[in-house]
Amino acid sequence: MAWTKVCAESEIPEGSIKKVWARIGGGIPIAVAHHKNGYVAIPPVCPHLEEPLEDSGLVVGCKLTCTKHLWSWDLETMALKDEAELPLKTYDIKAEDGNLMVYVTEQLEYTFDEDEDIDEATFFDDDDDDDDIW
Ligand code: FES
Repeated sequence: MAWTKVCAESEIPEGSIKKVWARIGGGIPIAVAHHKNGYVAIPPVCPHLEEPLEDSGLVVGCKLTCTKHLWSWDLETMALKDEAELPLKTYDIKAEDGNLMVYVTEQLEYTFDEDEDIDEATFFDDDDDDDDIW
């Protein structure tokens, strides 16, 4: 694995975030945010509840906010802001000859708690078993 071109710098204006692909294997999805002082390459989903950051992410100054539940991060220091409880994972990124290059050794992903998606049967089960007929 090595530095891989993901797009032209002009495709991601300052104050925006875009989903791109590293052409490695079957393709690795990456979100690139262009903040006031540079670029950050991260997995394309929010570490809270997997919202696609190209839809829910808002870049203002050096801050990225997922507008779904207002988790935010300082993209310069990567410090957690506002409601954020988990850090962002990052890929190294650099600009070269008008292109953005990302260093990818493996796909970075977050672990999501299955309990966040409670199915209907679990939700309505009061656990006292007095209404179970089977
Ligand atoms: S899904 Fe992003 S803050 Fe909740």
